[in-house]
Amino acid sequence: MIKVGVVGALGKMGKEVVKAVLEAEDTTLVMAVDVVGEGTVIANDVKIESDLKQAIQTKKPDVVIDFTQPATIFEHVCLYMNEKVKSVIGTTGLSETQINELKELSKENNTGCLIAPNFSTGAVLMMMFAKQAAKYFNNAEIIELHHNQKKDAPSGTAVKTAQLMAESNPDFTLGNCPETELIKGSRGGTADANIHIHSVRMPGYIASQEVIFGASGQIFKIKHDTMERSCYMAGVLLATRHVFKNNDFIYGLDNIMQ
Ligand SMILES: NC(=O)c1ccc[n+]([C@@H]2O[C@H](COP(=O)([O-])OP(=O)(O)OC[C@H]3O[C@@H](n4cnc5c(N)ncnc54)[C@H](O)[C@@H]3O)[C@@H](O)[C@H]2O)c1
Repeated sequence: MIKVGVVGALGKMGKEVVKAVLEAEDTTLVMAVDVVGEGTVIANDVKIESDLKQAIQTKKPDVVIDFTQPATIFEHVCLYMNEKVKSVIGTTGLSETQINELKELSKENNTGCLIAPNFSTGAVLMMMFAKQAAKYFNNAEIIELHHNQKKDAPSGTAVKTAQLMAESNPDFTLGNCPETELIKGSRGGTADANIHIHSVRMPGYIASQEVIFGASGQIFKIKHDTMERSCYMAGVLLATRHVFKNNDFIYGLDNIMQ
């Protein structure tokens, strides 16, 4: 049985994770942490705690699953590494420099960690297919659409998609003529390999992304829509089982979906 701690347990994702951990046959919930709702009963013998370090030291989870917020996630992962507790990180907003620092820290502490900007298996396939398609097109843009409570932009998924596409094709064409932005930002942000990313924030969406490839006479689109947050749970449990058995540092669910 894998002893799991959920951090951000009262959030939209945290609640789904708690449910998935309680329902899976090989996981058990031993710890639940959030900055709000201290003392709230989450399951048999598990109450919300607010002191993360103390909760880890007393409840001793094998794996912590973190869905909190970009502002504190780097600090959280450093704590997991220093306490030598394995972690599955869904919280987005880590910079490339921070991810590289965490990789080193994971090695130094011999503590497994899997960070994924998207735990939805369909979204990961979208990224894998976008990487494949990138070889055959020189023009590509990404549109990501999320609920209006999302704090960071662009989404971690969009950034990761652009990184994967850039591995296949390092130099996408920006426009095909000199461009002037009449309204600043109208062409979106420029990610790796000149790939433009456009972020939409709207009530009604959970998470969607469209990758559009263009070439003379043809448009190719890959689209993924998240309809319910439960879609992330197969990936979260897959990652939990992986880090429980391994001490490696992994960025991206695709690395364990081969
Ligand atoms: N990787 C993925 O597949 C995936 C999917 C959806 C959301 N996300 C990301 O997960 C994160 C959470 O998303 P959400 O929609 O559940 O947000 P949310 O705001 O509904 O939930 C966040 C929860 O974390 C708690 N929290 C905030 N800071 C904390 C801290 N320092 N310590 C403990 N608890 C803290 C909040 O009180 C809240 O209950 C965001 O970064 C989001 O982008 C990732």
